[in-house]
Amino acid sequence: GAAEKGGYAHFMLKEIFEQPRAIREATAARLQGGRVILQDLTMTEEEIRNIGRIIIIACGSSYHVGMVGKYNLERMLRRSVEVVLASEFRYSDPIVKRGDLVIAISQSGETLDTMAALREAKKRGARILSIVNVVGSSIARESDDVLYTWAGPEIAVATTKAYSTQMAVLNMLGLYFADILGTIDRQTYSEMVRDMQRVPEYIEKILESAESIHDIAREICKSEDVFFIGRNLDYALSLEGSLKLKEISYIHSEAYASGELKHGTISLIVDGTLVIALGTYGPLFDKALSNVVEVQARGAKVLALTTQTHAEEMGRHVPMVMTIPDIHEMLLPQLGVVPLQLLAYYIALERGCDIDKPRNLAKSVTVE
Ligand code: AGP
Repeated sequence: GAAEKGGYAHFMLKEIFEQPRAIREATAARLQGGRVILQDLTMTEEEIRNIGRIIIIACGSSYHVGMVGKYNLERMLRRSVEVVLASEFRYSDPIVKRGDLVIAISQSGETLDTMAALREAKKRGARILSIVNVVGSSIARESDDVLYTWAGPEIAVATTKAYSTQMAVLNMLGLYFADILGTIDRQTYSEMVRDMQRVPEYIEKILESAESIHDIAREICKSEDVFFIGRNLDYALSLEGSLKLKEISYIHSEAYASGELKHGTISLIVDGTLVIALGTYGPLFDKALSNVVEVQARGAKVLALTTQTHAEEMGRHVPMVMTIPDIHEMLLPQLGVVPLQLLAYYIALERGCDIDKPRNLAKSVTVE
């Protein structure tokens, strides 16, 4: 009924709007006095210093969080971090041994592939740290450490607040490790902590512009093919933007690393093709812009996502621009995902789709 949806038309919309509160819940106790405090982590400093390989395993959107995590953790820790689809990991005779850390990410804590991958890694001696939303779930119970996301129950099949809180937790974990390993400078550490605390209020600002995203959705909802493009963190974000759109609107949508356009995808860009260009990541903004110019030259209709700093310049090239506030680079996907969730939601709404229960999909995939 309408009551359980808190007055929102769908659980998905309600959960999108719950994100500021959910992220506060996930971070408040863990960010104090300008520091990351992970009281729920049982790993000792020595164990953290002795971690061997770091491998993230997950499925779907949780895997996309892992993709963001790979960029951020590698940057903070200056060591390689792998992110592997759980369904691939379990059958790959994985190279993991004692001392390695496997990070399992799952909203439900019941995803069969993630569970099987976790068991495979555990059997080989890895330490398991999971980032889970559902308290007491199977994955949480079988892990050596659990960092709960505290997002509250997520009902809509398309994940929103779980994705956001998983990302917040992974960023905090990265900062926590980096501090112990001595791989992050004071300034970056402090800026990250400060900006993480700003994420909820910045998301509130983005949510205030929901109607303008609805307007954009009305303009592009008839598209049958969409290409999301981006580099670095914008690439990781494009994977999630594309999945959100396809799962609830049934529009054919693909995510491409912008640099790969010339290696094949650009042959699909013809007059009127919709390209959603993610250009939030400041260091590579010029590259994002030149890709926009390139696809427009082939006739693409471009919708861009960028930060306040670059909005004007982007607007000189592109007719439709969505803007997010400026924040520390590593936190851009925390903000950038919100307009993409709203966009997917409103497009699905315009198309009359069953948003909370899209066809063929289950909230938690407990079969292979
Ligand atoms: C996301 O919107 C999906 N419905 C799906 O990809 C989901 O993220 C995936 O099944 C993993 O679920 P989990 O986080 O509960 O393990």
